Amino acid sequence: KQWKTPYELVGGEEIVTKLVEAFYARVAKHPDLQPIFPDDLTETARKQKQFLTQYLGGPPLYTEEHGHPMLRARHLPFEITPTRAKAWLSCMREAMDEVGLSGQARDELYQRLVLTAQHMINTPEHDR
Ligand code: HEM
Repeated sequence: KQWKTPYELVGGEEIVTKLVEAFYARVAKHPDLQPIFPDDLTETARKQKQFLTQYLGGPPLYTEEHGHPMLRARHLPFEITPTRAKAWLSCMREAMDEVGLSGQARDELYQRLVLTAQHMINTPEHDR
């Protein structure tokens, strides 16, 4: 094979596992996110690891178990506001820092996640 997938470039299963762990540790504590996530994030993290693996061009683990991701549809039961999208992305940036993901592979992954996160927004900002 002549080229490496982004999955290989970021460091494969080891890094994806660490990234997902570091990410949900932050989600669990984030005041904007914690209210819409389950208390036990084990299953959420397991699915996210499957999803990110295939998003990065690794094996299609998510689709093998759950079918087409249909991510926007799967997020419709939750109120995803612009504030929550920003919070999600900040948890992801911090998780990337924690696991030492850097360079072009990180930047490209992050930029794709910004677009995907924006696509998940389904609710305008609440009045408080
Ligand atoms: C599931 C929130 C963005 C991928 C979920 C769940 C919530 C959520 C509340 C359900 C957790 C559960 O019940 O287990 C958010 C918020 C986002 C966001 C607030 C902010 C924009 C994203 C992005 C991705 C993503 C950008 C892709 C990289 C997933 C996946 C699942 C999920 C794969 C599991 C779907 C399933 O049940 O099979 N998200 N999400 N989310 N999210 Fe997000």
